[in-house]
Amino acid sequence: MTASIEHRGEIAIVTVDHPPVNALSQALRRQLYEAAERLDADPSVKAVVLVCAGRTFIAGADVGEFDKPPRPPHLPDLVARIERAEKPWVAAIHGSALGGGFEVALGCRFRVAVPSASVGLPEVRLGIVPGAGGTVRLPRLADVETAVDMVTTGSPLRAREAQEAGLIDAVIEGDLVAGAVDFARAALGRPLPPALGDRPVAPPAEGFWEAAEKTVAARAKREVAPLKALACMRRAAEADFETATAFERETFLALRGSAQAAALRHVFFAERAATRPPELAGVAPRPIKSAAVIGGGTMGAGIAAALRDAGLPLILVERDDLSLERGLARLRAIFDGAAKRGRISIDAAVDRMAGVTATTDYAALADVDLVVEAVFEDLEVKREVFRRLAAACRRDAVLATNTSYLDPERIAEGIGHPERFLGLHFFSPAHVMRLMEIVPTTATAPEVLATGFVLARMLNKVPVRAGISDGFIGNRILKVTRAQAERLLLTGATPAAVDAALRGFGLPMGPFEVQDLGGLDIAALQRRAARARGETAFAPIADRLSAIGRFGQKSGGGWYDYQPGDRTPRPSETVAAIIAEEAKGWPRRAWGEAAMVDCILWPMVNEAARIVADGTALRASDIDLVKIHGYGFPRWRGGPMHYAEAYGLDKVADRLQAFANEGLADPPCDFLLRAAARGRF
Ligand code: 3HC
Ligand code: NAI
Repeated sequence: MTASIEHRGEIAIVTVDHPPVNALSQALRRQLYEAAERLDADPSVKAVVLVCAGRTFIAGADVGEFDKPPRPPHLPDLVARIERAEKPWVAAIHGSALGGGFEVALGCRFRVAVPSASVGLPEVRLGIVPGAGGTVRLPRLADVETAVDMVTTGSPLRAREAQEAGLIDAVIEGDLVAGAVDFARAALGRPLPPALGDRPVAPPAEGFWEAAEKTVAARAKREVAPLKALACMRRAAEADFETATAFERETFLALRGSAQAAALRHVFFAERAATRPPELAGVAPRPIKSAAVIGGGTMGAGIAAALRDAGLPLILVERDDLSLERGLARLRAIFDGAAKRGRISIDAAVDRMAGVTATTDYAALADVDLVVEAVFEDLEVKREVFRRLAAACRRDAVLATNTSYLDPERIAEGIGHPERFLGLHFFSPAHVMRLMEIVPTTATAPEVLATGFVLARMLNKVPVRAGISDGFIGNRILKVTRAQAERLLLTGATPAAVDAALRGFGLPMGPFEVQDLGGLDIAALQRRAARARGETAFAPIADRLSAIGRFGQKSGGGWYDYQPGDRTPRPSETVAAIIAEEAKGWPRRAWGEAAMVDCILWPMVNEAARIVADGTALRASDIDLVKIHGYGFPRWRGGPMHYAEAYGLDKVADRLQAFANEGLADPPCDFLLRAAARGRF
């Protein structure tokens, strides 16, 4: 049984127990429907409390059922059945009442919640709209402005905020079930409020819908669901309940089968799969209650900010007092910026800085639980840092490097207790970008690796396990995409055309704009080091630009020209001349937007396939997370691997072979060819 009934006097308690998150599978829907029928028929019952066992109230429809045909009882019918029950239902909420879970709660006559609970309609994040009356009932309970904000952003409200907005009738401080039963008894002594389906929507201010449409369209960019959700809510405000409900259901069903919804579902499950590596099941992580960062540069300051945001007391170590001052100033600038944008309060910004101890003395690290190193990308400098850390820190402290390209095995060589060492590769800006590549060495202890995953959760990051390989996962793919972008220039495209094509695909910036923003110098140094190791590194144009000091925006020019104080990229004659010189001997062709995207995307997928094949990534969906959370790949496309599967892997392989025939890319690798034969990775 997933839903059971017990009686406390005239109050019946329906308990849902359907782990892990009480999602509304067909079996649960049926049992709840039957419970409503049975309780209506039972004269001893005067009111019903609906409560859930486990970590949460009903977290929504069962997303795993979305690829199958819907089976009755359908969720809207269940919600309507509860709403029309002869006995009033009280939803007793703990954890999260989300999506269909909140819609069931909206069908109940009352809602009570513990203070830590949250409620919301996050469907747009899955590329759909609420499908069981959420857009129609919510604006009958909260004001239209609040309801529209909740539904079009998918953001939940905590219990107290929800109470203020009118969504929760009471916040229960003590035992939830006892409190809900008391609430139900008290409610029986008063006239019942009308069901939401019988209430009107208070019309919003003049011009509200037009303004909301602009705001939602700007925020959603190419995502379809938020504007569709807004259309449903407008219908809820302007049409009768039945018409609006039918319109919402129709919209929900159409979106559920859409490519965007499939992509967003894929990412939802990919994120959960990456978080809990099966081989770490049952491995206890080490507790992390304090942290230190070595190096307060671009990355160190960002990592320090992320650790402080998670509430950890922090020690910042630099090589000298001046660098320490600069590091603290960077950190302060991050918190001040967050306060200015209203992300945190001014008090919180002050508190974040108050929790930082700044020092140049490693002796301060004697009792710290975690150290993240973010000093210069230089093997000897890093080795020296870890020798000092190994001597200064507890032997069970976790020691991590944020290196981008160096081999963590070599950084850790010779340190005592190497089992406490691993790579934690953050992405810039580290307090914003959600990706964290977790890179164990052969010596890393399972509990240290598990600690990396727990840390990611504490920092609200998306962890992806990566093997040791030049650039791990993300930067290894980046090298290929940059080389492809240059091949496009050598065969007739312009930087502006390539950037526009990739933006058109959905990336926030094109490959050349990104390089100008981040700087061309570091990548040029990487290539020089790679060539010194005997490796090839294809970037003939970027090499020439770096050689003449065109490092990007910071030097006034890179792939584009910039005017002082203006970040607008302008085509550069110097760059055009260099491209023309380097292009000698390359075949020229006319590049359309789609072909340019193909010529970057499919070699990216090919390299990613090699990365999965050689074990650097555990699974194709991890590649999608790396690209989405580290490089701005549009989430609604599902990541490159999902996108390739949806496009057809056989077609991808054919396109790659065609580019290979022209000397523009490698042919499809064996792993990709095998996946193409199966139709999936
Ligand atoms: N359907 C199916 N499985 C779900 C699920 C759902 N709605 N929500 C979570 N799960 C699964 C996860 O895949 C995971 O499975 P795994 O253990 O096999 O990996 C497990 O439940 C635990 O999930 P989390 O790791 O996310 O657990 P947390 O405790 O960190 O978070 C949560 C709990 C806040 C409830 C979070 O799971 C969540 O946000 N879930 C999604 C909520 C949601 O989007 N609901 C709307 C669904 S669409 C809908 O309801 C349509 C309706 O309008 C008709
Ligand atoms: P940075 O040059 O901005 O900062 C390095 C900091 O380390 C400087 O403040 C310097 O004073 C300090 N430092 C140098 N030697 C030190 C020592 N012995 N002890 C204490 N502090 C010392 O460099 P950035 O960009 O922050 O990079 C740091 C590390 O992070 C590198 O390994 C880099 O490869 C990696 N990384 C960089 C990313 C980026 O986008 N910049 C992204 C991901 C990783």
